[in-house]
Amino acid sequence: MAYYERKITRRRLMTMGVGAVTTAAMMGGNMRKGWAGEPAVQVLNPGEATAAIYEKGSAPVPVWAYNGSVPGPVLRVGRNQPLHFRLQNDLPQPTSIHWHGIRIDNAMDGVSGMTQVPVAQGESFDYRFSAPDAGTYWYHPHHRSWEQMARGLYGALIVEEDVPPEVDHDLLFIADDWRLAQDGTLDVSSFGAMGDHSHGGRLGNWLTINGRTSPVFDVRSNDRIRMRCINTANARIMSFRFDGMTGHLVALDGQPLAAPRTGLTEITLSPAQRVDLILDVTAKPGARLAVWEVSTGQAYEAASFQVGEQPGERQQPIPDPVILQANVLAVPSLDNAVGIDLLMEGGAMGGMQSAMYGGKVLDIRDLVAQGMVWAFNGVAGRTGTPLMTVKRGQTAVINMINQTSWPHAMHLHGHHFKVVERNGRATEGAPWRDTELVEANERVAIAFVADNPGKWLFHCHMLEHQAAGMITWLEVL
Ligand code: C2O
Ligand code: CU
Repeated sequence: MAYYERKITRRRLMTMGVGAVTTAAMMGGNMRKGWAGEPAVQVLNPGEATAAIYEKGSAPVPVWAYNGSVPGPVLRVGRNQPLHFRLQNDLPQPTSIHWHGIRIDNAMDGVSGMTQVPVAQGESFDYRFSAPDAGTYWYHPHHRSWEQMARGLYGALIVEEDVPPEVDHDLLFIADDWRLAQDGTLDVSSFGAMGDHSHGGRLGNWLTINGRTSPVFDVRSNDRIRMRCINTANARIMSFRFDGMTGHLVALDGQPLAAPRTGLTEITLSPAQRVDLILDVTAKPGARLAVWEVSTGQAYEAASFQVGEQPGERQQPIPDPVILQANVLAVPSLDNAVGIDLLMEGGAMGGMQSAMYGGKVLDIRDLVAQGMVWAFNGVAGRTGTPLMTVKRGQTAVINMINQTSWPHAMHLHGHHFKVVERNGRATEGAPWRDTELVEANERVAIAFVADNPGKWLFHCHMLEHQAAGMITWLEVL
């Protein structure tokens, strides 16, 4: 199986240079708070830009970026704070902004063609909302996402806790894999390639963290770090190993775990997932600690920590664990739930013969001619009518049956959910998620209280799969 056929190049291993990335530079433009209830407008301006994504000191190459930088500005906001972002589109094509994982007002969800018309070049759109849940979120286009995100359009949206945990560094770790051509520029000729759409999606050959090659985080012995990891890749499931650190996993997809997971050595993130880690630096002054990307079976250095020669203020690590305060979410109850099966079909080695597309049943050849290779319940692409309609406040269950030979990162808009059953076995105490990885041939049932009215997408976040059919929606009335 050619799933990881496009390995991150070996050359990558020979370029483990060092260059300090300061915390300040990582944090980027903070939100200015408005006065007297009217939030200050923050402009997000996607447009053509350049970025040095290929190796250190390399010539910048053309990308698309928010406000000229990849990733876009870090948006740090308060919980329930009224927000106002103005999308000012300078891209050569329409766009929109989706606030991934935020339980948002439906009209602000940013889904082009469903919750809003796409914003044309030169035009603007005002997003006004507030974010009910503290945690690590992100934003990205929801219009030709497979191209716009691969070109560099994404950024972090951090919703602060009312009482943030005590840490010495609050760091972002935004992982992306780029597909670069031989000359180090973005490979644009392969956009829309059917081979990617029907297989594992657009996998890259160059890894960046926070838009840089192997960035170095400066820390000190006994420091406590909060690491907000976000996978913004189109399609690659990534796994990271943190050397020489004691780690605790404290939140998934923005939502705190009831009890942190300790003693972890490796974390896995499907596209769009987030993991919040608390890392205690137990290494001696002067140590260099690598972070490895290990999903291909080979270890590639993603980033590193340089432990300073000078000790920090702390004589010893903070002994207390970090417990993040839970957000308030309605817990699904299966007693009076409405449920639906979602049969996932298609893709290479899937054997799908036909599916409905544009109101007609097409055989696989005609589907491929339309760029469609995947289907949910026999239907490719987004339909005019919802997969299901749920009354507000009711618990909904979606039972995903993955009959394809590929994993899928299934994302629900406007709600967080819990996995309640995996391969026929009930799961107890599953964490909240907004994106769940469903492995090939797995069956995974998720449940959530449909308490946010509107039209909400449910799709694969492997963006080529989404573009080639794996997208549906439900309506909460
Ligand atoms: Cu992160 Cu429908 O998207
Ligand atoms: Cu998929």
